[in-house]
Amino acid sequence: MERNWTEQVFVDHGQLYLRFLEAALPRAPQEAESIHKLLEKHQVGLGSRLLDLSCGIGRHSVELARLGYRVTGIDLSPTFIARAKRLAQEKQVTEKVAFHICDARRVAQTLANEKFDAIVNIFTSFGYYDEETNTDILRQCRTLVREGGIFVMDVINRNGLVRRYQPQGFTHAGDVLLLLEERKINFETGRNNTTWTFLRELSPGNFKQEAQITLDHRLYNLHELIRDFTQAGWEYREVYGSLNLEPFDIASTRIVGVFGT
Ligand SMILES: C[S@@+](CC[C@H](N)C(=O)[O-])C[C@H]1O[C@@H](n2cnc3c(N)ncnc32)[C@H](O)[C@@H]1O
Repeated sequence: MERNWTEQVFVDHGQLYLRFLEAALPRAPQEAESIHKLLEKHQVGLGSRLLDLSCGIGRHSVELARLGYRVTGIDLSPTFIARAKRLAQEKQVTEKVAFHICDARRVAQTLANEKFDAIVNIFTSFGYYDEETNTDILRQCRTLVREGGIFVMDVINRNGLVRRYQPQGFTHAGDVLLLLEERKINFETGRNNTTWTFLRELSPGNFKQEAQITLDHRLYNLHELIRDFTQAGWEYREVYGSLNLEPFDIASTRIVGVFGT
C-alpha cells in the first residue's frame, strides 16, 4: 500500500527534510518567547506541562524547557525525535523535556495517562489528513488538556497566502541541498497540492534528484479553523497574525490561534 505523503516526507526521507528544520533552528528562541507570552496571558505559567504536538526536531520544546516549562514533544519521525533528544542534551534540558515517536492520529491512546496545561502546534504542522481525521486529532487533544488549559496553533493563513501566491519556488538548505516547489491550490477542497523535488548538487551545476513527493494539506482561513476546533470541543479565544504576535489582518502570513477548554 502506498504510504501517506507525511510518512514519505518525514519518515522515509526524514534525513532530507531534517536539513530544513535545522535551518529553522535559529528562529526558535524568539518564537518560544512569543509562545511563552501567550501562555502566560492565558494563565499557563512557568512550570506548566506542555505538549508540543508534531515537534519535529524539538526546537520549540527545548527552548520552552529552557524557559522553565515541562515539555513533552511527539512526532511521527524517528529521525527528528532522535535529533530532538540530542538537542535536549546539547541545551542541557533533558530533565525538563521528553520526546516520543508518536502519530498524532493516535495521540490520545499513546499519552492516555497524561494531562497537559497546554498544547502547541507550530509551523503548519496540522491539516495533513482528510477533514474527519484532522478534526479527530483536535478532539483527541481536547481529552489531554485540563479544564482551563489552552491550545496554541500556528498555521499558514490562506487569505494571506493567496494574496502573494507563487506557483513555483525554491529553498536552499546548507550549500548542497535544494528544494524545488510546484504549488497548486485546489479551490474545491481548500487544499494545497505541492510537489517537492529535493536536488543535491554533486558539483557546481550538476544536480542529482534525491526524491520527489507530492504534499496535500488543508489551507485554513480563520473561520474554518474556529469551526473545526469548536466541533472538536474547544472554545475560540483569540488570534494573531504571526509568531511575533502582530495583529491579525487580511495580509497576515500566519494564523496564530488560541483555543481554550
Ligand atoms: C513543518 S514540520 C514542523 C515541525 C516543528 N513543529 C517545528 O516547528 O519545527 C511538521 C512536522 O509534523 C510532523 N508530523 C507529520 N505528520 C505527523 C503525524 N501524523 N503525527 C505526528 N507528527 C507528524 C512531521 O514529522 C514534522 O516534524
